[in-house]
Amino acid sequence: MAASIRTLVLRVLSDFTRNIHHVSRCQSNIDSTEDRSTHFGFQTVPEEEKAGKVYKVFESVAKKYDVMNDAMSLGIHRLWKDTLLHIMNPQPGLRLLDTAGGTGDISFRFLEYTRSMYDRQQWMRAKSHQAPSWQDIADRYASDEAGPPQSHAVVCDINKDMLKVGKQRAEKAGITTGLSWVVVRYIYTIAFGIRNVTHIEQALQEALRVLKAGGRFMCLEFSKVTNPLLARSLNQYWVGICVKNNFEIVRKLHQTMCLPQETFKEMIEDAGFFCVQYFNLTGGIVAIHSGFKL
Ligand SMILES: C[S@@+](CC[C@H](N)C(=O)[O-])C[C@H]1O[C@@H](n2cnc3c(N)ncnc32)[C@H](O)[C@@H]1O
Repeated sequence: MAASIRTLVLRVLSDFTRNIHHVSRCQSNIDSTEDRSTHFGFQTVPEEEKAGKVYKVFESVAKKYDVMNDAMSLGIHRLWKDTLLHIMNPQPGLRLLDTAGGTGDISFRFLEYTRSMYDRQQWMRAKSHQAPSWQDIADRYASDEAGPPQSHAVVCDINKDMLKVGKQRAEKAGITTGLSWVVVRYIYTIAFGIRNVTHIEQALQEALRVLKAGGRFMCLEFSKVTNPLLARSLNQYWVGICVKNNFEIVRKLHQTMCLPQETFKEMIEDAGFFCVQYFNLTGGIVAIHSGFKL
């Protein structure tokens, strides 16, 4: 009895502290929206100008965006994106909303992952049925006729140039089904996009709204590097690459925001997601945050 009262008091206290924290953050947001300015690189710009400026950045780099990504990350962004998919582990038939989806990197991986997952499941089934009964064979024919469950990815982005490059890539890769370029609700990803958003709290609320109960929010984003030596070397590398290749405009955007892992985790919790956790990749250069709508 005493133990359960203690648990109850602790829970009330922790909710209370969390609410105070939430209220104080909301208060600071109200203050900051009153002066209506936000960060864009090293600049402070009026809030209403940020989306337009972000749009121009990606409009100007759309055609070389994929090359630029490889150059700036030494190709490691591919591994970070693969890791996002491994943690997600989507099953065939799932639907993905890939916001700030750009040229479709996350969606392409999602479709490939669910397809290979289906092939693997078929193979495992065949292996476990090496001496099948008549019933097994009948079941097998019935499920083969139904075909594999169709996974679907929706790439959502504000920038038509990025989507155009993405569509061309899909055509080249022969992806003709399971992909559309505009809304949905089972898994919601945002990869290297949250830092471009002016009101992150609102974006998280929107993610919660569009997801169904049981749906998952996953964010891949630059984060706080824990090792100062790595942080310094990384910065020097990026400055070098950006100046050499004329990616200066993107470097400015990179410096816009590196939300510390714990702060972002709390923001996701405050938005109403549960079981929020994060995974640091490459010394915290990027992190994957995940939370569920229950
Ligand atoms: C760095 S790219 C990331 C693209 C892709 N997710 C990837 O990881 O390769 C950021 C993308 O976010 C898009 N974006 C920026 N602000 C946005 C917003 N408010 N809503 C939707 N997309 C946005 C940009 O147009 C751009 O395509």
